[in-house]
Amino acid sequence: MEERVLGRTGLRVSPIGLGGYPFGGVNRAAGWDPFTPQGQRTAIATIHRAIERGITYVDTAPGYGEGTSESLFGQALSQGGYRQRVTLATKCRWNGSAQDVLDSAGASLRRLRTDVLDVLQLHGGMFTPEDVHHILEQGPLDALRRLRQAGTVRFLGFTCEEPWTARPLIASGAFDVVQLRYNLIYQGAALHALDEARDQGMGVAVMRPMTSGILQRTLRFLKPEWPEAEVYEVALKYVLADSRVHVANVGMRWPQEVEQNVALVEAFRPPEDFDVADLPRLTAGIYRAADAEVRDPRSQPAE
Ligand SMILES: NC(=O)c1ccc[n+]([C@@H]2O[C@H](COP(=O)([O-])OP(=O)(O)OC[C@H]3O[C@@H](n4cnc5c(N)ncnc54)[C@H](OP(=O)(O)O)[C@@H]3O)[C@@H](O)[C@H]2O)c1
Repeated sequence: MEERVLGRTGLRVSPIGLGGYPFGGVNRAAGWDPFTPQGQRTAIATIHRAIERGITYVDTAPGYGEGTSESLFGQALSQGGYRQRVTLATKCRWNGSAQDVLDSAGASLRRLRTDVLDVLQLHGGMFTPEDVHHILEQGPLDALRRLRQAGTVRFLGFTCEEPWTARPLIASGAFDVVQLRYNLIYQGAALHALDEARDQGMGVAVMRPMTSGILQRTLRFLKPEWPEAEVYEVALKYVLADSRVHVANVGMRWPQEVEQNVALVEAFRPPEDFDVADLPRLTAGIYRAADAEVRDPRSQPAE
């Protein structure tokens, strides 16, 4: 897979990363339980397969199965030199004190069996102005900076489900990496955060690139004849075709899901004259773009 540069970190990463949620969550309907010995063997095989197939970014969190996902990554990465082959990103909570962040990072290092976290992200949903003030002024950012100074964290980041609430943290310039919810159905980041992150030179990761299965589940009821595999394919291509995105963290449970997704990425070259970043999104802009395509100079509606 052709690697991309993760913004100002300068790290080279694969266009898809291995999302760590599945290694901390049970889905019995899908026959998935990472708390059983068999589930753990499969998780480790999936992590190894991902790295062998060229995935060089992994994203986990202490909150995924109360440390289970991190522990499985720790076990998998401590074998056969795998740790050196990946950019390892994890998270911590941000609504407590500086000491809470330091303690969380220490526990992550132990579970992940490593001396250094490549990216430590404040694990976010949506951020109110009070949250932003707390993060920037009341301890969490200070703790992240201390960890970076000590060499236990290389790059600082945060994750955000509601991209417009990420704007003040992006604007602060304090973070190297942002992970945003962005996919075919949640496009808020395209309007409210991705340009800002690019302009700051940040590394941009995407969470839920396959819509966490929400689009697929919806279509199963509303348009059952659409082949599900094609829906996944389009969802993945959508984020790959946005030049502002550096890595899409895909949730993959089984080695064969790794194979399918790597094959999709390897076979896909975004068309040269198409970038999701340039898609017009306001109605007047869409009209203008359509007119430009048929080269009609008469129609220039105001925005
Ligand atoms: N706040 C945060 O920081 C935050 C929040 C959410 C997620 N994340 C990160 O983002 C990662 C991904 O999010 P996610 O797991 O919710 O969503 P996702 O990657 O959008 O979707 C994951 C699901 O897609 C399906 N899938 C993947 N590849 C497939 C393929 N080739 N063919 C068919 N199905 C395929 C699998 O489900 P089925 O097999 O059941 O279809 C998988 O469970 C997480 O693991 C985590 O690392 C971060």
